[in-house]
Amino acid sequence: MKHVSFLCLYALVTLCAHKGVLSAAPSYGERGSDLGIQVFQQVVRSKPLENVVLSPHGVASILGMLLPGAQGETRKQIISALRYKKNGPYKMLKKLHKNLTSKSNQDLVQITNGMFSQNGFPMEETFMATNKANFQCESRSLDFSNPTAAADYINQWVRNKTKGHITNLIKADMLDSTLTRLVALNSIYFKGSWKSGFQPNNTKMRSFTGGDGNLYKVSMMSQLSIFNLGMATTPQGVKYRVIELPYHGNTISMLIAVPAEDTPLSSVIPHISTATVQSWAKLMHMRKVRLLIPKFSADVEVDLKAPLSALGIADMFSQDAADFTHLSTEPVYVSKALQKSKIIVNEEGTKAASTTTAILMARSSPPWVTVDRPFLFLIRHNPTGTILFMGQINQP
Ligand SMILES: *[C@@H]1O[C@H](CO)[C@@H](O)[C@H](O)[C@H]1NC(C)=O
Ligand SMILES: *[C@@H]1O[C@H](CO)[C@@H](O)[C@H](O)[C@H]1NC(C)=O
Ligand SMILES: *[C@@H]1O[C@H](CO)[C@@H](O)[C@H](O)[C@H]1NC(C)=O
Repeated sequence: MKHVSFLCLYALVTLCAHKGVLSAAPSYGERGSDLGIQVFQQVVRSKPLENVVLSPHGVASILGMLLPGAQGETRKQIISALRYKKNGPYKMLKKLHKNLTSKSNQDLVQITNGMFSQNGFPMEETFMATNKANFQCESRSLDFSNPTAAADYINQWVRNKTKGHITNLIKADMLDSTLTRLVALNSIYFKGSWKSGFQPNNTKMRSFTGGDGNLYKVSMMSQLSIFNLGMATTPQGVKYRVIELPYHGNTISMLIAVPAEDTPLSSVIPHISTATVQSWAKLMHMRKVRLLIPKFSADVEVDLKAPLSALGIADMFSQDAADFTHLSTEPVYVSKALQKSKIIVNEEGTKAASTTTAILMARSSPPWVTVDRPFLFLIRHNPTGTILFMGQINQP
């Protein structure tokens, strides 16, 4: 495959025993993604100059897995933050899961969910059954009284499900030998070839102005081709360019947003939502350009507790307030929620060059579109509007 992007992600939630005790209505993919985008916005606010990668869909998925176990205020907070309908979103989530992982996508989207529970932890049948039916959730019991062995086992499972890209997700000290009851996991693995690949020998070291204002020499890929391009504007009047790079299967694209020179990426990010992304379609047109984008990779861990709490999903993290009575008769709360993501974007090891070579030879002086300053990217499953991954790259 010519152009390969590997994206892996892990969303994880550890449950511990209680110590004392959308224009058109948004699709379910978009509802979940919007919450994930808000989490991303929370995270980049405190890390404006770092590379950040997140799976909005992963955030929604782990909440979707916990939802059938939640009751009362805990449930209300999740439902309202996700804008899900009260009477169970499961039928819709099941459809979404099927659609995202359908073979018709061609580019590989592999979503795996797992639940690892303490031996003897009394779990409600319906909770497990709902997760199995909707997300093909795998489950098994483990012995958390040996945190190192349990962490090793889970990490191996994660490594297996992400083709080795995510390692050491769980540190033994995140598990408590007497109190850990359940570890819920959602894994997304994506592998797509560009519809129009880049010639490796067109990649050259070029300048990129980092988020910190310094000039960096980075490997810049380049191709002369027809791309869908547009110019969008935030309500504050900040202009930014939008570029679409489709993957070969035609259902998934990477969308890149890059503001004008001297405009920080942070002036665009607060304006991003699935509705914004949908609105780009009207502004974009096919144009022949020489596109230059950096190869990049990033490996990022995000603690979800603070951003989710800030977005109104707070009770599930509180020992006193958490209500998971539909999960187990034993009171539990979420002691940790984190996500680890990795992305590699390059032009290597690929065989999709067939689509590109002709174009590369075509013209000598087309207009240049260069992504040579901090940019935002989103990887979107277009049929459902689900944002699988997003990130800000300050230094490729
Ligand atoms: C996925 O959902 C979209 C939008 O609802 C629909 O057009 C498409 O046919 C679905 N694909 C599959 C494989 O279910
Ligand atoms: C991971 O994959 C290896 C090799 O296929 C297998 O032996 C092992 O049991 C798997 N581990 C887990 C936790 O799934
Ligand atoms: C670049 O690669 C193409 C395809 O492999 C080859 O035909 C071409 O000669 C190469 N160009 C240079 C400058 O090496």
